[in-house]
Amino acid sequence: MVSAVIALGGSLLRPEIEERHKWLEDISRVIKSRSERDLRIGIVVGGGSPAREGINLIRPIIEDVESLDHVGIAATRLNATIIREVFLQAGISVNSTIPKDIDEAVDIFDKNSVLVMGGTIPGHTTDAVAIRLAIRYGASKCIIATNVKKVFDEDPKLNPNAKSYNLMSLEELKRIVGPAEHSKAGYSQVVDPIGVDDALRNGLTLNVLDGRDAELIGKSLDGEDFQGTVIHG
Ligand code: UTP
Repeated sequence: MVSAVIALGGSLLRPEIEERHKWLEDISRVIKSRSERDLRIGIVVGGGSPAREGINLIRPIIEDVESLDHVGIAATRLNATIIREVFLQAGISVNSTIPKDIDEAVDIFDKNSVLVMGGTIPGHTTDAVAIRLAIRYGASKCIIATNVKKVFDEDPKLNPNAKSYNLMSLEELKRIVGPAEHSKAGYSQVVDPIGVDDALRNGLTLNVLDGRDAELIGKSLDGEDFQGTVIHG
């Protein structure tokens, strides 16, 4: 059975996005149809607003990055629970509890066609968890569903002339995201550099796309052309 893993950016669930309910329905439809076609899908959900809110609340009084990471992890599991409940309602065969680590995730991945989880331990983001799950499970690719259309060589919000990529190598992506370090809780890059390093060492293909359009996730799962960036291993 073919498998793929998706890092579903927590920002996709945030309240500012209009028609979130429609997005939740769209993503359920996309995942349900693929899971019924003999595709096993792992989804690792990011922390989004609750992570930022919780981390910002205590950052002025707690400096320790690991403590802040624990708050972020709790938020990722809250968001994973939301996605799991929505999938269950949609009739998707999904795990009944949110696994706390990759070993637990791999164990239950075999029992359901769709696995939903959040973060695991301090020191990285859910991108890195998704990439590690994809490597451990021998998935064909890891989809990074975020809120930008492609990978850019610079932040397009800061430089409107930043160059975007349709196709690139993991080495090129590594040069953009920098060294595999986690120095700040709640700080976000297009793809977590710790995950990029793991993908590079294991030759795992990444697809970066704008997850606000659930159909793009469907196209990437189907192996079709999609608007976004293919990063080959
Ligand atoms: P996210 O995966 O949401 O990170 O985890 P992000 O890249 O900041 O957010 P999005 O994807 O753009 O919304 C939120 C925070 O939770 C902690 C980290 O502090 C991270 O920044 N975290 C998460 C961990 O420490 N370990 C994990 O496995 C996951």
